Amino acid sequence: MSKTENFVHKKFDGEHTGHDWWHMYRVWQLAKHIAREERGANLLIVELAALLHDIADFKFHNGDIEAGPKEARKWLMSIKADQKVIDHVEDIIRNISFKGSEVSNNLKTLEGKIVHDADKLDAIGAIGIARVFAYSGAHERPIYTPGEKVASHKTVEEFLTSKPSAVTHFHEKLLLLKSRMCTKTGREMAIRRHEYMEKFLEEFHSEWEGGS
Ligand code: ADP
Ligand code: NI
Repeated sequence: MSKTENFVHKKFDGEHTGHDWWHMYRVWQLAKHIAREERGANLLIVELAALLHDIADFKFHNGDIEAGPKEARKWLMSIKADQKVIDHVEDIIRNISFKGSEVSNNLKTLEGKIVHDADKLDAIGAIGIARVFAYSGAHERPIYTPGEKVASHKTVEEFLTSKPSAVTHFHEKLLLLKSRMCTKTGREMAIRRHEYMEKFLEEFHSEWEGGS
């Protein structure tokens, strides 16, 4: 675990788009917390998958969905992890990423569901708000474009080619995550974070129109 922690920490040092080491760190902590609540999960799989889940994001590898699983496999082989562990972690990473509002995930195991929920919880709430604006700024997208249409995406290609404002991203993705949680603990934790985002958007629109 500590070798993997160092590897991921080094790899994400200097990343400032919200996909940084601290995202990996928070997802790792959240995943451990959910695993303790849910009981019965293999903690080694949960922790490795949490740390490695964004190791090579398909969005930054020309949409190559296999980039992440491949990179994780390479790393786990280099530290001589068990073949079964490698296969399981690789499968979780392949299936965890949000690929559009009408594209469902394919997570089969409790360990996968836990890491999925940990990752999505870090996309909502106060941290989620911070991350969406960091991402939008880093990718030269506006904070808000009044009148912009919210698209629903049936394929990952549609999702990837859209370049919405940060506020539109709330509607395209962040506000949908609460109902896509896969564990009881994740669902419960998502409620407060979701309400916080709704409040934020209410304030945002009120201020935008010159309100108090
Ligand atoms: P996932 O972990 O589900 O694969 P992503 O890597 O797509 O999530 O996104 C991570 C975070 O980056 C999101 O929670 C969001 O804050 C931000 N982000 C991703 N896509 C966009 C976008 N189109 N506009 C603004 N922020 C985005
Ligand atoms: Ni992530």
